[in-house]
Amino acid sequence: MKSLKTEEFGKIEEYILEYSGILLSRVPKLGVSERILKHMASLKVDSVDSYLDLLKNPGNLAIRDGLISLVTVNESYLFRNPSQFNFLANELLPKLGEKKRDLKKRIYCWSAGCSTGEELYSMAFIVNWFQEKNPGLSFSLLGSDINTRSLEKARLGKYRRRSVRASTRMILERFNFPYLRETPDGYEIEDEIREKVNFSFLNLRNLCVLKTFPKMDIIFCRNVLIYFEESFKVQLLTAFVELLLPGGHIFLGETESLPEKFKKLELVKCKGCYCYRKVEEQEPQKDAAEGKRSSKSAKIQENDRQVPEAGGSPRGRVEA
Ligand SMILES: C[S@@+](CC[C@H](N)C(=O)[O-])C[C@H]1O[C@@H](n2cnc3c(N)ncnc32)[C@H](O)[C@@H]1O
Repeated sequence: MKSLKTEEFGKIEEYILEYSGILLSRVPKLGVSERILKHMASLKVDSVDSYLDLLKNPGNLAIRDGLISLVTVNESYLFRNPSQFNFLANELLPKLGEKKRDLKKRIYCWSAGCSTGEELYSMAFIVNWFQEKNPGLSFSLLGSDINTRSLEKARLGKYRRRSVRASTRMILERFNFPYLRETPDGYEIEDEIREKVNFSFLNLRNLCVLKTFPKMDIIFCRNVLIYFEESFKVQLLTAFVELLLPGGHIFLGETESLPEKFKKLELVKCKGCYCYRKVEEQEPQKDAAEGKRSSKSAKIQENDRQVPEAGGSPRGRVEA
């Protein structure tokens, strides 16, 4: 079968990197070149240069979406890395809930690079379960991706059997969630949950768009950073940290870690997994500077040591 010449493939690789931050070298190569040629043929363009002209035309959204759907890896399933969801249910939400209830504030959750939606629905199952026990709390659940075809599937909430793995079953049984309906073809998410989530297009490369986002408590960006080059990873994580509210958490994929010397997030070890928490700017300690310390502030410090909270916790490794 015909495939692109190295130089032609290189030009497309460069465009994709510029547009999306995706390094094609990190994407399984098998068939990519052939699929791009097919896409070109469907548009009736016979050279890579004309194809790139089309892709770079701001009005040609569908053409860009077509190429992106050929080069993104969409692998996802419900309750991937279940330990992170156990931590969310048993530790993080109770802690956030306590804080937010008094402030009467919403808890903001975002699945960045949500693919076909399984990650956001897993969060939504946990959130709904938690909300039933804590009716005073309200949540916002947003999923975003660059791949519009994945987003269409996400909105439908209909899945094949491969979206439910053995680890998924374990967590479904443990929590006894009634939000997944078995159908002859696979599974469907119950409307009660579908109505609570929002899916939206977002190219993470457009960092300036993030400035229009609400501040977040929880960001899941799992198995997405692996496709990006190191300098973009740093920029993106920096933008995420700016978006996070005090005490906000970020969850990465099982095989992902922070770039070297990235100091804006601290590691939180959970049972069987880990995540990261925003490092708070240390407030200058007025009393300490004056050489005085009231008995009240001494007591607060003592409590901080027992229950590490953002702002009061030491930098570096934090055990939750
Ligand atoms: C392997 S999937 C991860 C899905 C889910 N987070 C999980 O872990 O199950 C990677 C996702 O990242 C998305 N992605 C890649 N580059 C992106 C970008 N620049 N902006 C937004 N999403 C992107 C892809 O479209 C794909 O859906």
